Amino acid sequence: MEKGVDWGLASSEDERTGDWHFQQFDTNGQVKREAIADRCQSCHGGQVDNDFMFTTEKMRAYLP
Ligand code: HEC
Repeated sequence: MEKGVDWGLASSEDERTGDWHFQQFDTNGQVKREAIADRCQSCHGGQVDNDFMFTTEKMRAYLP
C-alpha cells in the first residue's frame, strides 16, 4: 500500500480507497500480478473508517 496526493482519482468512485494504491511486487521490485491489486482494494475498502487499514492500532502500540 502506498498513498500520494490525489492518487485516488485513478480509481472510479465506487472502487476508490482514499488515495491508497495497492500492488504486489517480487523481490526484484517488478510487479508480480496485476489482478491482485483489485482484490487488495476490495478487501481493504471495508476499512473505510480506519483509512483503509486494518492494523493502525497495533502499529501505534509500537510507537515510543
Ligand atoms: C482478504 C482480504 C485482504 C486482501 C485481499 C488484502 N488484504 Fe491487506 N490486510 C488484510 C488484513 C485482515 C490485514 C491485517 C492483518 C493483521 O492483522 O496482521 C491486512 C494488512 C495489510 C497491510 C498492513 C496495513 C494494514 O492495513 O493493517 C498492508 C500494507 C496490506 N494489507 C496491503 C495489502 C496489499 C498490497 C494487498 C494486495 C496484494 C492486500 N493487502 C490484500 C486483508 C486483506
